[in-house]
Amino acid sequence: MQDLNWSKLPFGYVKTHYNVRSVYKDGKWGEIEVSDSEHINIHIAATALHYGQEAFEGMKAYRGKDGKIRLFRWDENAKRLQYSARGIYMAEVPEQLFFDMVKKVVELNKDFVPPHGTGASLYIRPFLFGTGPKVGVQPSDEYTFVIFVTPVGPYFKEGFNPVKIAVVRDSDRAAPLGTGTYKVGGNYAASLYGTIKSVKAGYGAPMYLDAKEKKYIDEIGAANFFGIKDNTYITPESPSILPSITNKSLEQLAAHLGYKVERRPVAFDELSSFEEVGACGTAAVISPIGEIKDLDEDVTYTYCKDGKAGPVSTKLYETLVGIQYGDIEDPFNWVTILDI
Ligand code: PLP
Ligand code: COI
Repeated sequence: MQDLNWSKLPFGYVKTHYNVRSVYKDGKWGEIEVSDSEHINIHIAATALHYGQEAFEGMKAYRGKDGKIRLFRWDENAKRLQYSARGIYMAEVPEQLFFDMVKKVVELNKDFVPPHGTGASLYIRPFLFGTGPKVGVQPSDEYTFVIFVTPVGPYFKEGFNPVKIAVVRDSDRAAPLGTGTYKVGGNYAASLYGTIKSVKAGYGAPMYLDAKEKKYIDEIGAANFFGIKDNTYITPESPSILPSITNKSLEQLAAHLGYKVERRPVAFDELSSFEEVGACGTAAVISPIGEIKDLDEDVTYTYCKDGKAGPVSTKLYETLVGIQYGDIEDPFNWVTILDI
């Protein structure tokens, strides 16, 4: 194994020892296969390649001070993958198979789980796609489920320092009755325009507004949005955003810490009234937002005026990460310690 500078790891791909795979054929899932290949050989007419039958998940394994490896709410990822599979007519991966494969791939790559205290973790990427041939537009009869892992650092180079976000209005990642609530590859293809546009303008990620009226806040790149004001954690209710497991956890944590919680449509016009704003997700954890630039109107909303995350975001971040790494008590039973 190569020497990795754990505390300097970016959010990127590092080759590990093995990945795990299972194939759904003739109406049932096959045995778990272990592979040391980084490649997949698939049919040229596979539905994943032509009609976008692909969904994925993103989760992490964390090493505690005790050396033990922990998963955070893996069952939520398993359920969301099933939800995504139903959304685009793919075979569902049973929860037990999902867990067995996650456990196996982490165990096989145990030495890639970063040491405690480095701020890094092992990113786990389960993905499911149609591998049977079809030329007419229809669902595949065969599916492949693969999980690979890669050690990662922060998604935004800023880490827990404020990021800058640009509002994108001339492209949508998802439509209200489209696939935005599923974690399907097509949504990310649709988000590339906004991502590239924001990065080219010098920002970390795009802010998407609701596709129909462009009046409400949807998401921030590959993360959900939240705002804080008057001791309240506020996050968008929208038919076109991914139901983030991190966001759902933060809502519970915020309530537990004594804040009020509101999930409701959040008008873009409300931006100037927030005391703190942030992006949240598995990869992003909590990324405080220091600036939101409306490129069309040339208006800038600024937060974190002292260059640091606000007090509520900081408290939520420390509590969430503390639970994930096992540094503080987990009153919600979110963490699974792997016996590996
Ligand atoms: N929104 C989008 C579009 C995402 O890709 C992600 C990442 O998974 C999230 C939100 C955050 O979801 P979660 O907290 O479940 O990782
Ligand atoms: C995640 O937070 O797991 C994501 O999906 C982000 C990503 C698409 C890199």
